[in-house]
Amino acid sequence: MTRARFARTIATMSRRPFVGGNWKMNTDLATGVALAQAIDSRWNQSQDAVDVVLFPPFPYLQAVGRAMSGGVVSLGAQDLSSEANGALTGEVSAEMLTDVGVTWVLVGHSERRHKLCEPNSVVADKFAMAIESGLSVVLCVGETQAERSAGQANHVVGRQLKSAFERVSPESLAKIVIAYEPVWAIGTGVVATPHDAEEAHQEIRGFIGSRYDPELAAGIRIVYGGSLAPGHAKTLFSVPGVDGGLVGGASLQANDFLSICSSAMIGIVAG
Ligand code: 13P
Repeated sequence: MTRARFARTIATMSRRPFVGGNWKMNTDLATGVALAQAIDSRWNQSQDAVDVVLFPPFPYLQAVGRAMSGGVVSLGAQDLSSEANGALTGEVSAEMLTDVGVTWVLVGHSERRHKLCEPNSVVADKFAMAIESGLSVVLCVGETQAERSAGQANHVVGRQLKSAFERVSPESLAKIVIAYEPVWAIGTGVVATPHDAEEAHQEIRGFIGSRYDPELAAGIRIVYGGSLAPGHAKTLFSVPGVDGGLVGGASLQANDFLSICSSAMIGIVAG
């Protein structure tokens, strides 16, 4: 397929937008439940054109799951073990997550990669475990400011992708969302420009195209994360190839998060 035809395929390909709220190590039981209730009750069936997923801390998963009775917002976990079970103090397995109603999981978030020293190999093992266990997965990738300044951004993200997708079959791609989260944009208030985001998403889609095939690349959802806020979500979600977002800070306020979710409806046909 020529480059122009590939670009046309992507532009006309309909991808269901995705917005995730990554609460990180925030909220307590009461505020987490209240936040989930507010989001779930206000994100109703008529807006069910977007996949909305909340990722609360582990101890609140069950309570948050129970608070979401509407059935349109899904429950996700922020991490999982690469192992199925055993003597691994503090770890949480895929089966335990499924057991409490989790259907999505984040893998390879930059805070785990950088602050908790998770190498690509561990991320790849967790990714494989999540897929094998039937969970839907958000794989996070992204470069640091230093890597970007050194002109290494594409190389770093390429390595993260190559390692993670080594063992992934084409059939699994439908349950995978890739989140491009440049580390320099996370929690900093600095948002990638539409041009930066478009370029990075193109690179990522290009990787999937060469690892699998252009049609699968055109179908996979790639979302942006890093200081997303209601004021610029629409602009970013209108960028060709940006299929929604992974939201940190702004997901802790129901109004802000719901506004970002509504903005994602703009991207129902990406292009
Ligand atoms: P912020 O939206 O707080 O920058 O966090 C982004 C993020 O890390 C989502 O996973």
